[in-house]
Amino acid sequence: MPSPPENSSWSAASWRKFPAAQQPDWPDADALKQAEARLSTLPPLVFAGEARLLTAQLAEVVDGNAFLLQAGDCAESFAEFTADSIRDKLKIILQMAVALTYAAGVPVVKLGRIAGQFAKPRSADTERVGEVELPSFRGHMVNDEAFDVEARTPDPARLVAAYQQSASTLNLLRAFTKGGFADLSQVHLWNQQFVASSAEGQRYERIASEIDRALRFMAACGIDLGAEESLHEVDFFTSHEALVLPYEECLTRQDSITGDWYDCSAHMVWVGDRTRQLDGAHLEFLSGIHNPVGAKIGPSCSPREAVAICDRLNPDRVPGRLTLITRFGAERIADVLPPIVRAVEAEGHPVVWTCDPMHGNTFTSESGRKTRRFEEILAELRSFFDVHREEGTWPGGLHIELTGDDVTECLGGAEEILEVDLEARYTTACDPRLNGRQALDLAFRVAEFLRS
Ligand code: PEP
Ligand code: CO
Repeated sequence: MPSPPENSSWSAASWRKFPAAQQPDWPDADALKQAEARLSTLPPLVFAGEARLLTAQLAEVVDGNAFLLQAGDCAESFAEFTADSIRDKLKIILQMAVALTYAAGVPVVKLGRIAGQFAKPRSADTERVGEVELPSFRGHMVNDEAFDVEARTPDPARLVAAYQQSASTLNLLRAFTKGGFADLSQVHLWNQQFVASSAEGQRYERIASEIDRALRFMAACGIDLGAEESLHEVDFFTSHEALVLPYEECLTRQDSITGDWYDCSAHMVWVGDRTRQLDGAHLEFLSGIHNPVGAKIGPSCSPREAVAICDRLNPDRVPGRLTLITRFGAERIADVLPPIVRAVEAEGHPVVWTCDPMHGNTFTSESGRKTRRFEEILAELRSFFDVHREEGTWPGGLHIELTGDDVTECLGGAEEILEVDLEARYTTACDPRLNGRQALDLAFRVAEFLRS
């Protein structure tokens, strides 16, 4: 049954009548028009029915019956785009999901920051090095990080390139998750060499062996494991920040079954903490699409604003439609989160409460590298669980930046990465990510919080 337009002035382009924060200054208007025309004719990357399936799974999270794991790069890169890097990211997310499911006994909704996470909000429009001032790097959908005029000039052809890389990435993810790689019998294979040799990796290996035993036991009992689809494939969804609105507009399509509009660039999209203005273009755009959507909220968000965001994005209070991703920092969460939770719950808004323990805990090391401490990431998560326990709400998920690679970008963790180690393998295109070991370690800790 087609749902009535809850906002009759909405269209995929209606955001253009509102102030849009964090948009690149495209110097070539004709080239932008050409890129938009091209994107509008290209096939959708995801289908409306898949987005609805994700909404249904997120509704289970709202009810406290599942946990959301949203993870991936801060910014995907045009330069580091290989089958191996996609596979390794998927491996670590699958490992984390196994650790969470096995240790805490809850189903995990798996949502990648992947296949479209190419645009970044920046605190300053320009960057100055010595006497030279250039536009800031805004992600590979917009420009390149090299510090020269040509690289930093926003180029609309990158919108189409981002679409194409997203399509290839999604194609591989679909093959991996539906074509045997995510089969539970492969659970040992997801443990990469550098992870397997660590304490976290060995803990994972023990769970993997127990899963093997359980599968053999079920088979011996006469259960036809081959017929159990859920043992052989996983639902893996994609998400990114809906930042560059022309891109999102051009991929917004009307579903032939329901007549509703979906942003077919990803299953779920979110607005960042810098683009969640109530009267801004980003909320206008998100308000009319029927995908599940998210809003990041940082320490400057008042309880009243949080409720207003919920009213704007989910006036019908549809469970699973809206995820609030809180990112306050370990120091502030205990003060800022409780009044927000109370205000939103008092208005009867069903939201997925999820914690991004990364973006509120970023600082610059003495050597000039942006980094985060594992202990602070963990501390924010611990507070997140404490606050929700206290308020009687379900701590529904974890939103993190990670890579499958053995990078040295975040400090601490079991392998104790120190400031002097940061230079060794610091490869992120934007914010510092947890490496495979740190990410798996975090999953075990979160499983403990969930269980207690
Ligand atoms: C991000 O998720 O990479 C990001 C920029 O987050 P936030 O909007 O929370 O700052
Ligand atoms: Co980031």
